[in-house]
Amino acid sequence: MTQLTGRRSLLPLLAAHPGGRSPATCRYRCGDACSQPVPNTSDNSYFGDVARSAVARRAVLAGGTAALAGAAWSAAPGAAAAAGEPEGGLPGAQGRGRGFPSISPTPADVDDLVVPEGFTWAPVISWGDPVEPGAPRFDVDRQSVEAQKGQAGYNADYLTLLQDGDRGWRRRRGVIVFNNEYTNPELMFPDWSGEVTAEQAEIEMAAHGMTIVEVRRTNDRSPWTYQRRGTRNRRIHAWTAFALDGPAAGQDWMRTSTDRRGRRVLGTLNNCAGGDTPWGTVLSGEENVNQYFDATGAPDPEGRLARYGITSGGRGWEQADRRFSVLAEPNEVNRFGWIVEVDPDDPGSTPVKHTALGRFKHEGATIRLAEDGRAVAYMGDDERFDYIYKFVSRRRYREGDKRHNMRLLSDGDLYVARFTGDGLQDGQYDGDGEWLPLVVDGESRVEGMSVAEVCTWTRLAADRVGPTKMDRPEDVQPDPTTGRVYVALTNNTARTPGQIDEANPRANNKFGHVIEWREAGDDAAALRFRWKIVLVAGDPADPSTYFSGLDRRGVTPISCPDNVAFDGEPGHLWISTDGAPGTIGTCDGLFRMPTTGRDRGLVQQFLSVPTGAECCGPVISWKDRSVLVSVQHPGEGGSSAYPYLGDSVPRPGVAHVFPGRKRPR
Ligand code: FEO
Ligand code: CA
Ligand code: CA
Repeated sequence: MTQLTGRRSLLPLLAAHPGGRSPATCRYRCGDACSQPVPNTSDNSYFGDVARSAVARRAVLAGGTAALAGAAWSAAPGAAAAAGEPEGGLPGAQGRGRGFPSISPTPADVDDLVVPEGFTWAPVISWGDPVEPGAPRFDVDRQSVEAQKGQAGYNADYLTLLQDGDRGWRRRRGVIVFNNEYTNPELMFPDWSGEVTAEQAEIEMAAHGMTIVEVRRTNDRSPWTYQRRGTRNRRIHAWTAFALDGPAAGQDWMRTSTDRRGRRVLGTLNNCAGGDTPWGTVLSGEENVNQYFDATGAPDPEGRLARYGITSGGRGWEQADRRFSVLAEPNEVNRFGWIVEVDPDDPGSTPVKHTALGRFKHEGATIRLAEDGRAVAYMGDDERFDYIYKFVSRRRYREGDKRHNMRLLSDGDLYVARFTGDGLQDGQYDGDGEWLPLVVDGESRVEGMSVAEVCTWTRLAADRVGPTKMDRPEDVQPDPTTGRVYVALTNNTARTPGQIDEANPRANNKFGHVIEWREAGDDAAALRFRWKIVLVAGDPADPSTYFSGLDRRGVTPISCPDNVAFDGEPGHLWISTDGAPGTIGTCDGLFRMPTTGRDRGLVQQFLSVPTGAECCGPVISWKDRSVLVSVQHPGEGGSSAYPYLGDSVPRPGVAHVFPGRKRPR
């Protein structure tokens, strides 16, 4: 065990936070991103597209922060019809809906997992459950680095279920893969006193990464249970070897004292959202990696550290492992911030960091095949005023050829999105979009930067081509039934009235919004698209909210959309939230919003997660009414006993909601 030469005090928790998250979430997950200066200081215009319409400009400015969206939208009762959808208008529709009665908003201090009538739930796997052979049972008082390396990681985020088949017993077996985004030392360690020891830092490193575990259920009304001895069980943590591939692999700036070739990295960090691929692998996004690296005193002549928010660390890991000191190991930081690909069928495989997909605060990546079979990856850079990206593979997908398909993300074109408004005369916040090229046909389209540089310092490359600064783009996901793409824009309280545009129309955007777009010709590889806002979140009593034109009295409050998912039924958009407690005073939860038909915009709440928790990674199969969610950081900022196993230790993990009688508590 490495001994800490000196203890490092964690900074005092912030008393209040503008973005809606709890102070502890900010501290440990994103390194207090909202309290730091906005890293994007480029001079891309904010206001150009709205300013095209004097009418729009007047409406926006007159409305100020709160009234703008609602005033303009409610002044346009034909908006939904104009968009080619039937008008909604279902006053008092809360609790109606198809398939489940909406639950009421849950006060933020309630420590329970609340599900609708007719459903029950069970924990599938929780932090510390043994996963790999020889791993011990969870014991909060006997934690060790070796134990944690074989046990389920902390803070479950992205989650996917890969069933072994689609019929018979194969349907009821499979693997779940979930990200372990970050750690809460104040909740993990009973003796934690505000200082992290070297051993605790290493336990935290072992609790980061991903967990892969086999699951089974006996029938469609029983819970998924994890298999202690599953042959595909695997933990991926801060010491798991990853291969680097793509343009940045092997470059000088990827080489370190322990990896002279720049092609092999230990670990993946801050894995937030992700996506599964048509070829049976799983993608995961390395998000707020800046917080693990202490760059105190490190030179930064081109702003390559500052643009990524890499400053003074905060985790204290540099005292346990020198690679987290930028002064001691200047290039290690370049080896994080990527999309990683893991083959869950082969626990001995080496996962890959795909540098062709660019380096930024990757929320996740979701795949859709283009008409000609190229793989398209949609990606958000989760930072205030950062961008949405798209990767298009050079090679084409080959059905059944996993080896070939696992190289699709190694080589291709990279684009960043510009949203152009068409004014508000049509009563819609909508317009055209364009994918601006960064790399095409193996050549850089950014003056003064090579392909490998564009891929490594992608934010700096994008700044030069004029994309639209968004309100924290998180999940970007195509609906497999309609092909329309949805992005959750969580919030951005730093946006001022002078910085609004038609795609980000709310200043001090505390509650976030959702944009839908349709690629030209419905081809995922198209370079143009049409977009519109389908949800401006918040309490429906707030006139700045918008629910696809539906009467706001009929919907339920929703705040800070983060993950989006689809359930196999046409136009069923599911949204999980991260930030409701600090913005609308309720627990975070999982919501469904139809995007087509007469219920378009009818937001209903399906479940709420326990106090302090964020709801992540939903996997929904509506055909059998099966909903899997990650319960992340229960008890953060307070206390929780989730998953309620008789002690008071909060254990983030995966829960399964399925038809049944309410679970007694
Ligand atoms: Fe980890 Fe973008 O939330
Ligand atoms: Ca418009
Ligand atoms: Ca997220």
